[in-house]
Amino acid sequence: MSSDCKIDFDHHSEAFVRDPYVQYRRLREECPAGFSEQHGGFWMLSRYDDVRQALLDHDTYSSAHPGRVAIPNTPRDGGTAMIPIEVDPPEHTQYRTQITKFFGKAKVEELAEPASDLADSIIDSFLERGRCEVVKEFSEPFFSKLLAMFLRLPITDSDLWIEWAAAIFAGRSSDPDGAEDARRELIQYVDQLLNERKKSDQSDLFSALLDIRLNGEPLTQNELRGYGMEILLAGREATIDGISNSIAFLADHIHDQERLLSKADLLPTAVEEFLRWNSPIQLLGRVANKDISLHGEEIRAGESVAVIYGSANRDERKFPRPDECLLDRKPNAHLAFGLGPHTCIGLHLARLGLRIGIGRFLNRLSPFNLSTQTVGTLKPNGDARGYLSLPLCFEFGKRTRT
Ligand code: HEM
Repeated sequence: MSSDCKIDFDHHSEAFVRDPYVQYRRLREECPAGFSEQHGGFWMLSRYDDVRQALLDHDTYSSAHPGRVAIPNTPRDGGTAMIPIEVDPPEHTQYRTQITKFFGKAKVEELAEPASDLADSIIDSFLERGRCEVVKEFSEPFFSKLLAMFLRLPITDSDLWIEWAAAIFAGRSSDPDGAEDARRELIQYVDQLLNERKKSDQSDLFSALLDIRLNGEPLTQNELRGYGMEILLAGREATIDGISNSIAFLADHIHDQERLLSKADLLPTAVEEFLRWNSPIQLLGRVANKDISLHGEEIRAGESVAVIYGSANRDERKFPRPDECLLDRKPNAHLAFGLGPHTCIGLHLARLGLRIGIGRFLNRLSPFNLSTQTVGTLKPNGDARGYLSLPLCFEFGKRTRT
């Protein structure tokens, strides 16, 4: 590493979590290829064009380094790669093609009506109280249950996922033993799902994982576990954060609540803008496969590089008025779902969850405001942007059910 542009950037610090966007602006202006010495040292790509280029160029910016897609890196027993996120093409293509059919838009949209009923029944449980805590009482149960429906697993299993995810994410710093126990239970659960499908094909996503072949060989048990856990943990968490972040914005912008209610077909466009403006996944890592010269800096082969989606999505070179959340923004080529070979496989499901979740929340509860008595708290880790808690209040009876 040799850099003239060192910035003390730590995405897990309190200051960063409070306002990452100030730091991103500085990075884009002063250090478009900056270096942070935190977490073992890593380069930071913050401008839209650089992030886009890196996501498309897997030969140079590789994902195929187990444990290094997260920053800080997470060493893993036996160096097993998480499939498909830690594999590059051409192998990566073989890992994805067999399951993409489950995530197609038409298939996902079949869930629109049940998702709407689900959101309504959850809202019914706190409606009369005139207040709620959005994360625990709405976004988390709503999307976890929707994911269970999508995966055709028992809806009650979603309670277990919530419990394990809470222990794994929150416990990383405060209770490492609890986090490890939860991880072990989740692994056992995924193993059990897979074993049941080994005995009899259930024509579902977990059965399809067993059909994946790389050069004729099936995935190992560790690889299968990794794939299952990625779906049950990471995608679920990001969508829950996306729903809560959007509701938080609307609670602070009553006029936008009215706008969306009076023009329902604006909602899908607004969802894209919520994801751009406050992206649930702020950054992930790549590893330089070769030496790279960029903005006068020399990135050496083997070094870690953060691709900062959250900063690319606020780049003034790409988006006019980037710090404003403009519900009708078009075009909006944001990178919140990534780009290139690793583009989020669950993006149609995530979009459906956001559209229906936010839509029903608005229809049933608007006008809603941030609670004046208890303030919301953000998650302490800056790579995933979302709320731990978000208390809101609304006037029960002001709107009739639509
Ligand atoms: C708003 C919600 C979501 C956001 C913002 C999001 C974001 C992302 C991003 C940025 C990537 C690219 C990773 C990379 O570049 O290395 C990704 C990949 C992925 N996402 Fe999502 N995601 C969301 C929801 C979901 C859901 C609901 C699922 C599944 C149920 C899911 C499953 C995956 C998987 C399996 C990958 C890896 C794809 C690959 O490596 O080929 N995500 N997601």
